[in-house]
Amino acid sequence: MQAEQLKENPEIQADAGKCPFTGAATETPANDPRLSEPQCPFTAASPGTVMVGNTGAPRVPKIKTIPFFGAVKHFTGDCMPWLNEMRKQYGEAFRFPVMGQEITALTGEDAIALLEHDELLTTKDKMDTLVKAVGSKLPGTFDGPYHKHYKRMQTAWLNRKLEREKRPEVVEAVVANVSHWQTGYEFDPLHETQAQTVDILSRVLNGEPFPFNHKELALVVRTLIIATYGPLPLWVTLNFPGFKKTMEKFNQNSLKLVHKVRTDPEFAEQTLMGQYLKYDAKEDLGGEWKDSDLKIVPMAAYLAGYDTVASAAAFMSYQLLTHPEWLQKVREEYVELSRNSEGDVDPMQQKVLRACFMETTRIHPPGILVTRTATKDFLYKGYQIRKGDECIIQIASNNMDEEIYGPNTDKFDPSRFMGDDLTARKRALLTFGSGAHRCSGAMIGPLFSQEMVAHWVNYFDLELVKGHEHPRVACLPFTQPLNLKIRVKGKRDPFAA
Ligand code: HEM
Repeated sequence: MQAEQLKENPEIQADAGKCPFTGAATETPANDPRLSEPQCPFTAASPGTVMVGNTGAPRVPKIKTIPFFGAVKHFTGDCMPWLNEMRKQYGEAFRFPVMGQEITALTGEDAIALLEHDELLTTKDKMDTLVKAVGSKLPGTFDGPYHKHYKRMQTAWLNRKLEREKRPEVVEAVVANVSHWQTGYEFDPLHETQAQTVDILSRVLNGEPFPFNHKELALVVRTLIIATYGPLPLWVTLNFPGFKKTMEKFNQNSLKLVHKVRTDPEFAEQTLMGQYLKYDAKEDLGGEWKDSDLKIVPMAAYLAGYDTVASAAAFMSYQLLTHPEWLQKVREEYVELSRNSEGDVDPMQQKVLRACFMETTRIHPPGILVTRTATKDFLYKGYQIRKGDECIIQIASNNMDEEIYGPNTDKFDPSRFMGDDLTARKRALLTFGSGAHRCSGAMIGPLFSQEMVAHWVNYFDLELVKGHEHPRVACLPFTQPLNLKIRVKGKRDPFAA
């Protein structure tokens, strides 16, 4: 993890500036002339296990699975336990088919070290597909030579200051979205958090309430995810009924936003798109910010935030409703902090709620893995990875490790993230990825999730509906709780004695 990213991560600020990788010497095992050291420091994290070149070493072991369809069943269900089991059986590298596509899974510390930059594993192929699907060059900048420059446009703004300034709007959005909740009202927490998340994102990043309906967004987001990561040719996916028409609607609205941002400096200041215009467009964008490229800014935020923030918030509300002792602590903390708070309670100060967020995403990480393509032939753990191999890196591979998190890691216990000296645990928890593509929304994502859940559980008495009290965990591709239903038992006043 780079020093810069350590600083960005609020959970591990204590160690900011300490770079565990750079500067360490690397060795070339066996002095094989066909191998060379990578240009980057990740071999220091995994001495001798990652070498660039091709020695004709055996390929990564193939796991026993159904031909062609392969692991598709696991990847539509909860794939974390399955990946952990495969790791136990086959080691830190194994491969399997998913609908005819061969996937190489890399797990453990060394795989995480490979994410440090795009030297050997890249997101480029996927982003090039997205560029074609959305007709904007912007996704291509995520893996181009100016990635860091463009990423700064996001991380410099999507920070704690933004949350503090926009907190009243965030709370207002949540309040508006729950205003119809009456006693007896039943809802699916995933759909509800998805709808509330995009409304919050739209208000905070685009300066307007979310202007579409949930169905329209779900259609566009799902189609674009399948187009980018799925096995089907682009033309097949993009012809999904209703997609083109709905995407066009989104584009028209975005182009109106582009116009407003270009002509109204005050409005521009309040939007993510406006922040982009403060930075140079580099050669990869033809040296200028074109409307056609900018139009994708709102959709990119929905693609990144819609399922992830919602997944964390939906699982967190489920965990609180099934762990009344922690619900009680969350409520007490809210009342306590409200006494000394001038406005809405700062989610960063809600230590119990924050610990609940971390514990929830440890057990149910919204993103279990990230996808990459190998840019070169290289050796990993003595196995040959070939240029072009489709790889997944299991960022959640240590989430159940009892040496890191203590006993009974299958149990929800937020106290794992409370108390002193939590640096090792927080560093090991890669909810927001690691390295070059670590999440740009890593600061605002958890805060918005917390603000949503805090309002729900403090201002409503809620219960799980019989027959819908156990989630079916699905990986679509973000981990999501299906089949849950919550009933409003009544409104509550958190300050009533
Ligand atoms: C709880 C909420 C969230 C979770 C768990 C999450 C998780 C992740 C993960 C695991 C990655 C790494 C992907 C990879 O390495 O390929 C990522 C990347 C990213 N996320 Fe998030 N995310 C969340 C919320 C958000 C939000 C709210 C935004 C923006 C509005 C956002 C914007 C991004 C962007 C732009 C990237 C790509 C960064 C890059 O390639 O440099 N995320 N996210």
